[in-house]
Amino acid sequence: VIRRARAEDWEDACALWREVDDQHAALAPSYFRRADRFDRQWRELLTAPETAVFVAVAEAPPVPAAVAGFATARIYETPPDPAMVPLRRGHIETLVVGRAHRRRGLGTRLMAEATAWARRQGAAELVLTVWAGNHVAESFYERLGYGVLSRVLRKKL
Ligand SMILES: CC(C)(COP(=O)(O)OP(=O)(O)OC[C@H]1O[C@@H](n2cnc3c(N)ncnc32)[C@H](O)[C@@H]1OP(=O)(O)O)[C@@H](O)C(=O)NCCC(=O)NCCS
Repeated sequence: VIRRARAEDWEDACALWREVDDQHAALAPSYFRRADRFDRQWRELLTAPETAVFVAVAEAPPVPAAVAGFATARIYETPPDPAMVPLRRGHIETLVVGRAHRRRGLGTRLMAEATAWARRQGAAELVLTVWAGNHVAESFYERLGYGVLSRVLRKKL
């Protein structure tokens, strides 16, 4: 089942968030590190009008349903720069499906819900960042029809 996230999903979501935080810390250690997440951040995402959070809930009776994945999306307006085309866009900020639940279509379904929500908010497109080395995410988004918009280069000093 895919549904809007609730405050009580926090505990499951926190463990999933750690999975993706650890992955980012492994991929880009000069940018990311393991950190504690707080339910205040979760509640802000649930209540802000420009954000939406969707959870995939694994129904496995008699075991209580657990959150198997989540996606967060945020609406952005183009900054007031005359050289930029004014367009409302949706950003996918976090997408994670727990290791035990991958490759069953949950990531695809979470993205479908986030996409439908962004469309309802008037977004003309969705954008997101994949960190270099995340080949699974690259294959996943390519399969969903995403293409490269820009490349961020760096040189260590
Ligand atoms: C990326 C992620 C969300 C995909 O979730 P998922 O539920 O496993 O994805 P789906 O089952 O919907 O996969 C859809 C398609 O994506 C591609 N894909 C997914 N996982 C893949 C993998 N490990 N290798 C290659 N292709 C893959 C396949 O084309 C797949 O279709 P198929 O199973 O019919 O071959 C999940 O792997 C994840 O949480 N990864 C860690 C966090 C992360 O990288 N998030 C994205 C950060 S930008």
